[in-house]
Amino acid sequence: MSDGPELLGAAKALLPRAQAAYSKFRVSAALEDEQGVVHPGVNVESASFGLTICAERNALFGALARGATRFNRIAIAGDRAKPVLPCGACRQVLLEYAPDLLLVLEAPDGRVEEIPLRDLLPRPFLAGSRPS
Ligand code: THU
Repeated sequence: MSDGPELLGAAKALLPRAQAAYSKFRVSAALEDEQGVVHPGVNVESASFGLTICAERNALFGALARGATRFNRIAIAGDRAKPVLPCGACRQVLLEYAPDLLLVLEAPDGRVEEIPLRDLLPRPFLAGSRPS
C-alpha cells in the first residue's frame, strides 16, 4: 500500500494523459484497490460536451473492468486547482462502489489531506445500488 503523497504523485504523473481540449482543465485520479494496485483515470472530453467523463469515474470504471472490487483510497490532482474535490456525480458513483473510500487531496498549502468520501455526501441515494 502506498502512502498519501505517493498516491498523489501517481495521480499527478497522469495529468498529461487528460483529454481536456474544451475546458483546458486537466484532472487525474489514482485509485488504489485493496490489493494495493493503482488504477489510473483522467478526464476525457468530447465535442458533445455532455459526454465528458471525469477522471474519478474513469478510474473507477477501468478498475471494475479489470476485476477490482474493493478500494482503499483515491488521489485526485488537477493542473490548476488545489485541491480538486470530486463533483457530485462522482461522489455518488464512488460511494456506491467504495463506501469506505478515502480521498487523498493536495491542500492549498501543499499538505496532503485525507478525507472520507462519506463526509462529502451525507444522506446519499442508495436504493438500486449493487447488493452487498
Ligand atoms: N472534472 C473531473 O474530471 N473531475 C471532477 O471531479 C470535476 C470535473 C473534469 C470534467 C471536465 O473535463 C473538466 O474537469 C471541467 O469541468
